[in-house]
Amino acid sequence: QEDAFLASVAGADRVPTGRRRLPRDVAAPAPEPGAFRNAADTDPAVAESRDWAARLVAADVEPPAGAVEVGTEDEVDAVVARAVAAAPAWSVRTPAERAAVLRRAADELEAARGDLVATMVHEAGKTVAEADPEVSEAVDFARYYADRAEELADGHVPGAVFRPRGVTVVTPPWNFPVAIPVGSVLAALAAGSPVLIKPAPQTPRCVRVAGAAIQRALDASGVAEDALQVVLSPEGEVGRRLVTHPDVARVVLTGSLETAQLFAGWRPDLDVLAETSGKNALVITPSADVDLAVADLVRSAFGHAGQKCSAASLAILVGSAGTSDRLRRQLADAVASLRVGWSDDLGTTMGPLVEPASGKLLRALTTLDEGEGWLVQPRQLDEEGRLWTPGVKHGVRPGSWFHLTECFGPVLGVIRVDTLDEAIAVQNAVALGLTGGLHSLDEAEIAHWLDRVEVGNAYVNRHITGAIVQRQPFGGWKASVVGPGAKAGGPSYVAQLGAWSDAPEVA
Ligand code: ALA
Repeated sequence: QEDAFLASVAGADRVPTGRRRLPRDVAAPAPEPGAFRNAADTDPAVAESRDWAARLVAADVEPPAGAVEVGTEDEVDAVVARAVAAAPAWSVRTPAERAAVLRRAADELEAARGDLVATMVHEAGKTVAEADPEVSEAVDFARYYADRAEELADGHVPGAVFRPRGVTVVTPPWNFPVAIPVGSVLAALAAGSPVLIKPAPQTPRCVRVAGAAIQRALDASGVAEDALQVVLSPEGEVGRRLVTHPDVARVVLTGSLETAQLFAGWRPDLDVLAETSGKNALVITPSADVDLAVADLVRSAFGHAGQKCSAASLAILVGSAGTSDRLRRQLADAVASLRVGWSDDLGTTMGPLVEPASGKLLRALTTLDEGEGWLVQPRQLDEEGRLWTPGVKHGVRPGSWFHLTECFGPVLGVIRVDTLDEAIAVQNAVALGLTGGLHSLDEAEIAHWLDRVEVGNAYVNRHITGAIVQRQPFGGWKASVVGPGAKAGGPSYVAQLGAWSDAPEVA
C-alpha cells in the first residue's frame, strides 16, 4: 500500500508542467515595450522568457481557488473542525509517505516559479533578484524537510516515540511571503499535523499561489483532504478565535515581538513557536577588508528596503575603522548608488516599502536624535510614502532610541567605539538577539567575538541576511525567539513540531 501511495505522489503519471526559469539576464534594464517581438520566435527559451516577463509586468497571476474565507467565529470553528477531521488520515501516513508529498511539493513550487516571482514582485514589493532566490529557498525547505521527515521514526529521540502534535496554525509574515509560509507549513505537515495557514493581510496572494502548489502535492497523495487550508480571515476577534481555538494544538508565528506578546496575552497557555524581531548589528574592525565589509553592510541593511528581521540596522565601527575617510566615503557612495523604484521596473535595486512609512520607521527616517547627523539623508520619493531613498545616520549613541529600537526599513545607524569588547557590549545590549556580523581578518578577533556575541545567527565576513537552508539554519536568541527554538532549515525543526513521549513498556 505504501508503494502505491509513493508512486502516486512521486508523479509517475504526472503531466509535465514545463518549468519556467528566469532568463539569465533578467536583471538587465527593462526592454522597450515590444522588444520581445524581435527575439527569435523559434527559440523555446526566448518564448519562455517572454511569457515570464509579460506575466511580471502584467501581474496577471489570478489567485488560485481553494482558499477559505472566514468572516465570523462560527466559520473559524468550521475550518478548525475540518482540520480536526483531516488529522487521522494524515497522521497515520508513514514518515516516508509524508516525505514523498514534500518532494512532490518541491517540484510543484519549482514549476510555479514564474507565478510566485511575479506575485512577490507585485504584492510584496520584492525585486526579481530578491523574489527568485526566495522561491529557491522554499524549494530547499521542501526537500530538506522531506529528508528530516524520514528521520521521525520512533527512537530518533532516544527512548521516545514520535506522535503528531495536532492541528497547527501558521501565521507567517509579509516580508518573506513565500519561503517562510512554505517552510512552516511543510515542516508541520512533515510532522504529521494538519495545518491552517492565515496569510499576513499584506500578502495573501503569495500564500495562495504557494499554498495551491502544496495542495497539488497533497491531492496527489489522495488521502490528505483538508490537511492544508489557506484561511483568509480578518484581524480582530475572528483572527483571535483562530489562534486561540481550543482544538488548535500549536501556533507557529513568524512576526514581530508585539504580535508574539499579543498572542500570549490572548491565551497564556498557547503552545507557540515564534521567531520575532531583530535589531541587528554588523561590527567592522580595523583589520577588515573594507570593500567586502561595505558591500556586505549595504546588502544587509537595504535588501528588500531593510524590511527583514535579519537586516543590519546598525554598523559598529571599531577604532580606526570609525575614523576612516575611505570607509565613510565608500559607504556613502554605495548607498547613494542604490536605484530606488517600484519593483516591476527591472532596473530597481531597492524596492518600495510594503506600506507607507509610519510610526517608528517614519521617526527613524525623518528625525535625528542627540549627537546624530546624516551621512546619507533619506528622501521620500512618492506621495504615499512607500518609496524612500536609503538613509545612514552617524553618531548614534549607545543606549539611545535608535540603538535599541527595531525600525524595519531602509535606515542604518553608525556607532563608533574604541575596542572590540565595547562593540560586543553595544551589540549585546539589544534585548533581541537574531542576527549579527563581524568583518575582521584577524583570527583572534573572530574567535573572541564568536565566543561572546548573543545572536541566533552569527556571520563572519559575510552579509547577515539570506540564511541558506541546512547550511545556516535560521533562528533567534534571547527575546527574538519563543518556544524551544530549533532553527528553521536546521536538523531539529521538523522534530520540534511533533510530540515525543516515553516508549511504552511492552510486557
Ligand atoms: N531567513 C531570512 C534571512 O536569513 C530571514 O534573511
